[in-house]
Parts: sequence; C-alpha cells; structure tokens
Amino acid sequence: MKIPSSAALPLLTERLLIREFVDTDAFRMRDFALDPDFWRHTSLDIVSVEALDIFTSDVIAEQKRTPRPFYNLAVNTRDTGTLVGFVKTGLVSSDDGVGMLGYAIGGQYAGMGYATEAAAALLPFVFVALGFHRLTANCDANNPASARVLEKLGFILEGRLRENRLVDGVRTDSLVYGLLADDFLVAGL
Ligand SMILES: CC(C)(COP(=O)(O)OP(=O)(O)OC[C@H]1O[C@@H](n2cnc3c(N)ncnc32)[C@H](O)[C@@H]1OP(=O)(O)O)[C@@H](O)C(=O)NCCC(=O)NCCS
Repeated sequence: MKIPSSAALPLLTERLLIREFVDTDAFRMRDFALDPDFWRHTSLDIVSVEALDIFTSDVIAEQKRTPRPFYNLAVNTRDTGTLVGFVKTGLVSSDDGVGMLGYAIGGQYAGMGYATEAAAALLPFVFVALGFHRLTANCDANNPASARVLEKLGFILEGRLRENRLVDGVRTDSLVYGLLADDFLVAGL
C-alpha cells in the first residue's frame, strides 16, 4: 500500500486549521515546544531551538518524499491563526494498511478539546483519503489525558506493553489502542 498525495489538505474543523508545516513554524513552535513536558510522552527528545529547527525541516522534507512515510501536520486555531500543536499519522506496515496516530498540544492550550478535535479531523483523512485499514496509537500509561483523547475518538484499549519506555529514567508501561476503518466508517464512531 502506498500513501497517495496530500490533496485532501488542509483539514478544517469548527475551530482548527490543520495544514502542512512551513519554515516559519519552527519559530512559532518555540512558544510551547521548548517545554520538555510537550515531548515527554512522545518518542522525540527536543530541548533546544536547534533541535526544533531540525524537527521542522525534517517534517518539511518528508512532504516531498514519495511514497510519503508520515504526515506531521501543524494545528492552528482558525480565529487567531495561533499554532497550538501538531498531529501525526503514517503507515507503520504498508502491506497491511496499518498506520499510527500521534498528537501533542502546547501546555497553555491544553484542556480546550484541541487534541480531540484535531485527531478527529485526521480520521476521515486516514481512512478515506489515505485508505488505511487500521490505526494504532500507543499512549503512556501515566498520561490519562492522552488515553481520554483516544477513548473519546472511539479507540479500543487492546493491551498494555509493560515497561515499554524509559521516561525521565523511569520505566513506564504503554497502553495500546486501536481503531479500525470499519469502526469509523461503518459503525460511525
Ligand atoms: C495529552 C494532550 C494531547 C491532551 O490535549 P488536550 O487538547 O488537552 O486534549 P482534549 O482537551 O481534547 O481532551 C483531554 C481529555 O483528557 C481529560 N483529562 C485531562 N487531564 C486528565 C487527567 N489527569 N486524568 C484524566 N483525564 C484527564 C480532559 O478532561 C479531557 O477529557 P473530557 O473532554 O472528557 O473532559 C496534551 O496535553 C499534550 O499534548 N500533552 C503533551 C504531549 C503528549 O502527551 N502527547 C501525547 C503522546 S501519546
């Protein structure tokens, strides 16, 4: 399975515009993404302006790759155009049509429903435009807000990977959540 072009972008929700990253986003992300909490539950460890610049240039370079491995998309508010975080998807097993979902919202913008709204907008993109069969999302067991986002989206808790990650020197479990195209398209979740 190959990921087709990004013709369906940008994605619009009631409050958010979800679009491709551009160069100036590296500067705009400094507002929230130099906080280690922003990356703590992700696989990335970005702690400096330089690392943020590299992250942004990497995701922009990714846009031109064919087939495209991942979509890291910038989440902006529609009213003020403020960059508040990002969402990520991509195939982890192209033969099987199995993809991943990730998201992060800046600390000062948390608790406003943005992660749920942005990730919800990604579901038709993933299951209709990209034709994925399944989405897997791994969530740190010590991150109840992230687990709640997945549950609100209709993801099913499928398992627990014991001591799967080392976070700040502490071994933590990961929760594995899954959503099938049929859950979304047929059951209308
Ligand atoms: C976790 C994160 C994505 C949540 O983003 P957000 O925009 O605040 O999420 P939403 O507002 O859409 O939903 C959060 C939900 O979690 C709930 N929640 C928040 N803190 C909670 C806690 N400590 N325990 C249980 N539920 C909690 C909220 O009440 C809300 O649920 P509700 O709508 O039923 O009330 C965001 O804080 C973040 O990006 N954190 C840093 C990076 C990260 O953890 N990324 C996820 C990697 S797996």
